[in-house]
Amino acid sequence: MLPNEGLHDYSVAAEFYDGVKAYEERPDVQFFVDAAAAAGGPVLEVGCGTGRVLLPCARAGARMTGLDLSDGMLKVLHAKLEKEPAEVRARVNIVKGDMRAFELNERFSLATIPFRPFQHLLTVPEQRACLQSIRKHLLPGGRLILDVYDPNLKLLLDERRKQESGVEACFDLPGGRKVERRFRVAAVHFCRQVQDVELIYYVTHSDGTQERIVDAFPMRYFFRYEMQNLLESEGFVIEALYGDYKRTPRDAMPGDALCELVFMAKKEG
Ligand SMILES: C[S@@+](CC[C@H](N)C(=O)[O-])C[C@H]1O[C@@H](n2cnc3c(N)ncnc32)[C@H](O)[C@@H]1O
Repeated sequence: MLPNEGLHDYSVAAEFYDGVKAYEERPDVQFFVDAAAAAGGPVLEVGCGTGRVLLPCARAGARMTGLDLSDGMLKVLHAKLEKEPAEVRARVNIVKGDMRAFELNERFSLATIPFRPFQHLLTVPEQRACLQSIRKHLLPGGRLILDVYDPNLKLLLDERRKQESGVEACFDLPGGRKVERRFRVAAVHFCRQVQDVELIYYVTHSDGTQERIVDAFPMRYFFRYEMQNLLESEGFVIEALYGDYKRTPRDAMPGDALCELVFMAKKEG
């Protein structure tokens, strides 16, 4: 039985997610669209959320299955999908499921897990279970693209991150509400490699009243060779490691760059 400690259901985030500029502007969408097109077969997106990446891949012609555990995020995705043309809808299959243990009646050419859902898995047994479930669903020679944030030691030690920061452009929600999002890292648990993250939404209602909504959750951080060992020990061969979505090799970037670890892996055997 896997622990439930790290599971975060995104019920607070779901309503706000598509309005957050930092998510909307993430430079990863075209990268995943290109990868899905190159896969030459069906694609599984693990932790698909509201379809930020999944829908553009489907619009570009890929057959997409999206798996997610959050009712809230999937509700948003279903509503968006209903507005898509029939041919796009026909290419999308949405499944509610836990990435740590799922069983689908299909095998895929490519599995992706974009924008760090893997960091919700706090323990090694959960991480291994997820990689095993994904591997089982890949066709022979199938590929996996997995991204995590590259932990920056200076940032991890920076106590200023306990203060709320990151005020972004306000966005509007139905009902005349205006939202401002901030974030902070309440604590870093160095021994467990976990950060307690808080996303803080300041909502101003149409009558002027204000609400402060805190979405607090733990996130695991992974070091490069730890992630490499995990992938290799679960039957994946690493074909490339990028530091961004322009396919810049991580090794070509400064050691302390604020970047991603984008693992391009292939099912072994
Ligand atoms: C940061 S969002 C990324 C969503 C989407 N891939 C994107 O790029 O916008 C992380 C997603 O992972 C999902 N998630 C977290 N834990 C999960 C689990 N155990 N099984 C399935 N999905 C999970 C969340 O519900 C959420 O939708």
